[in-house]
Amino acid sequence: WKVDQRMPIILTGFMGVGKTTVGRILANKLGVPFVDMDYYIEARQGQTIAEIFDQIGESGFRLIEFQVLTELLEADENASIVISTGGGIIETAECRQLLAQQDQVFYLQDTFETSWQRINRGGRTQNDRPLVNANSKKQMAAKYERRIPLYEEASNYRLDVHQTDAHETAEVIRKMS
Ligand code: S3P
Repeated sequence: WKVDQRMPIILTGFMGVGKTTVGRILANKLGVPFVDMDYYIEARQGQTIAEIFDQIGESGFRLIEFQVLTELLEADENASIVISTGGGIIETAECRQLLAQQDQVFYLQDTFETSWQRINRGGRTQNDRPLVNANSKKQMAAKYERRIPLYEEASNYRLDVHQTDAHETAEVIRKMS
């Protein structure tokens, strides 16, 4: 199995697993464009993720997320691209179906505890993640568990990133090409 740089490489996984960092490094290494879906959505809507959740709720955000994923995958110029998705993209059945049709979807998996520590240490602040503000640690842990099979359904490659930093993870993916 080999990474094909002429087709999208898509990163999924729970919040705080390092999708954005790994995606940026990987795209850089491969010399292809990088899109982080959360940032892309914020630029497209002219609002932060938190503002979008405030105004139209999680369901409204999920609809935008689905539209954006569709647009990104349909654009011919995006044949070569690395896409980091938002951690909840697999909550939407239509998104899972779209992802399952792709050949290079990587599920980056770490333990809940490590993800949680990174969320709270954050490059992005907690305020940028409305679900973290609205839920207890226990509720987030339950979300993490519930989502595991959804990530698995939507991806064709799982990488355990618990012992690897972002550079190593990007290198693991790049070496497959
Ligand atoms: C979400 C994850 C976030 C962002 C939104 C919802 C989720 O993306 O899309 O806050 O439901 O897990 P990151 O995984 O990039 O933090």
